[in-house]
Amino acid sequence: MPKVMICGRGGSGKSTLVALLAKELGEKEKVLVMDADESNLGLGIMLGLEPPAKTLLDYLGGKPAIREKLMAMLKSEGSEQVSLFTEKLAVDNLPPECVHSGGAVAWLRVGKIEHCMEGCACSMGAVARAFLKELAIAEHQWVLIDTEAGVEHFGRGVLEGVDTVLMVVDPSFEAVLLAEKAKKMAREARKLFLVVLNKVDEKTEPVLREHLMARGIEVAGVLPYSPAITQANLVGNPLEAGALQEQVKKIVARLEQ
Ligand SMILES: Nc1ncnc2c1ncn2[C@@H]1O[C@H](COP(=O)(O)OP(=O)(O)OP(=O)(O)O)[C@@H](O)[C@H]1O
Ligand SMILES: [Mg+2]
Repeated sequence: MPKVMICGRGGSGKSTLVALLAKELGEKEKVLVMDADESNLGLGIMLGLEPPAKTLLDYLGGKPAIREKLMAMLKSEGSEQVSLFTEKLAVDNLPPECVHSGGAVAWLRVGKIEHCMEGCACSMGAVARAFLKELAIAEHQWVLIDTEAGVEHFGRGVLEGVDTVLMVVDPSFEAVLLAEKAKKMAREARKLFLVVLNKVDEKTEPVLREHLMARGIEVAGVLPYSPAITQANLVGNPLEAGALQEQVKKIVARLEQ
């Protein structure tokens, strides 16, 4: 079963899509949501789940400890002996302090930037990449990865351990250009690349479809602009697909293929 990395430009609707997919998939399957965005804080609210006690970064001893391990890995030139994680990682067997479950949906957070001058987010990228590469998943289990805006996670190789890259494209030419670039990088990494159109209406959807078709990009589904989603995100309520449920089901059906 798949590990799906959701990406896109800032504010395009990545976290919204992750929350809606998690809810839909959680009706039948087990879902692990991984928050790999080192900045934004709202995913748990969209999921309706409290944050786990520890991030993966905390669990591994914080940035200095991770940097040390990464240096050791560099010195051993990729030897299998040195890994960020000492235990076998499986969806059903993760450190309990790093996971918070609500029924079939569980989530974990890689780590956030917390302090002024603490340095860059490279260690978060390394942790996300190692975790996803090593994480075993079984039948009827899904992993959805919410990422930070843009393409830095491509550069950091976070997509190495995923099966599918799902990009959110909102109505802008910038988003089309980013999708074109992301598709190229996903192809370099030999990953399936699909997009979801978000916040579209009857005028913007055909324009986006034309741009994407010209670039050979498959549209896996469409989420129209929804005032109910805007309202839920405004007041900080968990997300319900509501009128978008059929569209969410279609995206799931494409991912299941
Ligand atoms: N289909 C939709 N209809 C209406 N509003 C939407 C829709 N999808 C997302 N939004 C709104 O767009 C805003 C950004 O959504 P979201 O936080 O999911 O984007 P993001 O890509 O995760 O952003 P970031 O890059 O900051 O992580 C939110 O205010 C949300 O309510
Ligand atoms: Mg987000």
